[in-house]
Amino acid sequence: MDSVGKPLRHFLTLPDLTPDEARALLQRAAELRRQVRNGEYFEPLKNRTLGMIFEKSSTRTRVSFEVGMTQLGGHALFLSPRDTQLGRGEPVEDSARVLSRMVDAVMIRTFEQQKLERFARYARVPVINGLTDRFHPCQLLADMLTYQEHRGNIRGRTVAWIGDGNNVCHSYVNAARLFDFRLRIACPEGFRPDPAILAGAGDRCTLVREATAAAEGADLVVTDVWASMGKEREQEQRAQAFARFKVDGALMGCAARDALFMHCLPAHRGEEVTAAVIDGPQSVVWDEAENRLHAQKALLEFLLSD
Ligand code: CP
Ligand code: NVA
Repeated sequence: MDSVGKPLRHFLTLPDLTPDEARALLQRAAELRRQVRNGEYFEPLKNRTLGMIFEKSSTRTRVSFEVGMTQLGGHALFLSPRDTQLGRGEPVEDSARVLSRMVDAVMIRTFEQQKLERFARYARVPVINGLTDRFHPCQLLADMLTYQEHRGNIRGRTVAWIGDGNNVCHSYVNAARLFDFRLRIACPEGFRPDPAILAGAGDRCTLVREATAAAEGADLVVTDVWASMGKEREQEQRAQAFARFKVDGALMGCAARDALFMHCLPAHRGEEVTAAVIDGPQSVVWDEAENRLHAQKALLEFLLSD
């Protein structure tokens, strides 16, 4: 139970939501987006505080959570290991118990998923995954909202993941199951997603060798950086391995005529995606970035409202 007697819910991976909850959350996010665009105030989280622990850099996640809390009438607190005791070795279990006595929810961006899970085990307030090496579930809420905004329900559609089998890719695998779409993944050998995560999505996900085989007829083409945070030293080696996994005009030409392009950002133009694609007419990356705000407001409301 949380502090107001509601069963405690965390959001550590996408399957922490049921398919019905996930659909309702996207609907709510679209409603909150409409409200804010109409200048309507909605402040259900007055006097509530979100603690945000960032052990990795961030632009979108930090700003969207912070602005989201402001718009909902609450407050967000940025905590970095550089200037908190977490960075000086205070155990996460202790930090979780202390923060739970003061804030109403905690968002964490860190390296190991296990660290997030340990924090959640000792927290008495909802804990949200703001990205780990393994998953990035908040990104998927925004991506699904963006697809819905432009093309309607993603159910039964085909998504192509091109590039690294990383945290965002893992969350796409989880999303394929939650939102019931087909996912074709093309990654270089040695950079494929974890088979245990893939197995969870059953026959909705297939691994293919060539980027073109993944993109063929796809409704949505998605990529991400070749070297995620923490892998910067592998950048050169990865650039060679990933050379055939760039999203360019020719690859988009394999996809459906009205296919969308998404990228969680930050992007490296000329590496995983050409400027012509990311800045072109099929790209919805700016809506995707904005939808982080609306989707996470719906998530905060879901986890925190009485
Ligand atoms: N997409 C995303 O999570 O961006 P940031 O790293 O800027 O938060
Ligand atoms: N896969 C990227 C996502 C950044 C938002 C990373 O982990 O760095």
